[in-house]
Amino acid sequence: MGFEMKPEKDVLEFMSSKNQCKAKNNPNNPSSVNSPNNKNKMKRKNKKTVMAWRRKKTDSPADETTAVRRLFNTCKEVFSNGGPGVVPSEDKIQQLQEILDIMKPEDVGLTPTMPYFQPNAVPENLSSPPITYLHLHQCDQFSIGIFCLPPSGVIPLHNHPEMTVFSKLLFGTMHIKSYDWVVDAPMRDPKTRLAKLKMDSTLTAPCNASILYPEDGGNMHRFTAKTACAVLDVLGPPYCNPEGRHCTYFLDFPLDKFSPEDDDVLRGEEERKGHHAWLQERDDNPEDLNVVGALYRGPKVED
Ligand SMILES: [Fe+2]
Repeated sequence: MGFEMKPEKDVLEFMSSKNQCKAKNNPNNPSSVNSPNNKNKMKRKNKKTVMAWRRKKTDSPADETTAVRRLFNTCKEVFSNGGPGVVPSEDKIQQLQEILDIMKPEDVGLTPTMPYFQPNAVPENLSSPPITYLHLHQCDQFSIGIFCLPPSGVIPLHNHPEMTVFSKLLFGTMHIKSYDWVVDAPMRDPKTRLAKLKMDSTLTAPCNASILYPEDGGNMHRFTAKTACAVLDVLGPPYCNPEGRHCTYFLDFPLDKFSPEDDDVLRGEEERKGHHAWLQERDDNPEDLNVVGALYRGPKVED
């Protein structure tokens, strides 16, 4: 990329130095660059140089900012004043969403034929096939990573405390079920809380990026791969155990699982059965979560 910028700089410097010399040259001096003959020669020379540069620029995609670099730069801007529970402004969210909406698997060096996506026999001790996580970047403000799911791969129901999260399905078909907490609802017990269903649908790429927020948009979600699929995730801010933002996993139960017939508080909710559920905290490492890390080998993310 750098070597392509140099010719442009050279051309600009060349043009600029010629402009600076213009006033000093005597048009009557045949050796002057401003003599009619030399003027024409110079014009032809400049034209040739610029045309050569233009041709080179067009022919070489290395000069263009890659999609993943654009994503990284936009994340830096969008999350620059971020922090726990801080939602970026509407225009910043839109800016990042537009970048993600048009991203394709090849932008991050992925194809569905890669080993990560092949249906493998599920190990006996696991309920779903292994998922691969490719780490692209992490700083205090945001993280970028890709989950590679073979068919039937599941990322169990989990939360994103105080985060804004952008998820872009790069290819494949994936079922998403997501919830938000019901504010002010009584807790069934210290680990079981009432949630409302936000999304229960299947997405097929190409599709737009989806966004969740600290308090809504489906902050708790589960991904189930209907086919092999890849999901690009941007988290702002990232998980951070010391700061209390760790990933909690849940099981979801229908409302009547814990709701006694005479529970007045939930009687109204009962009428909307199906739109609400009990989410119960699980152990930190649920047995159906099987994510392995792998080296990201796509286009460079940062300088
Ligand atoms: Fe997630």
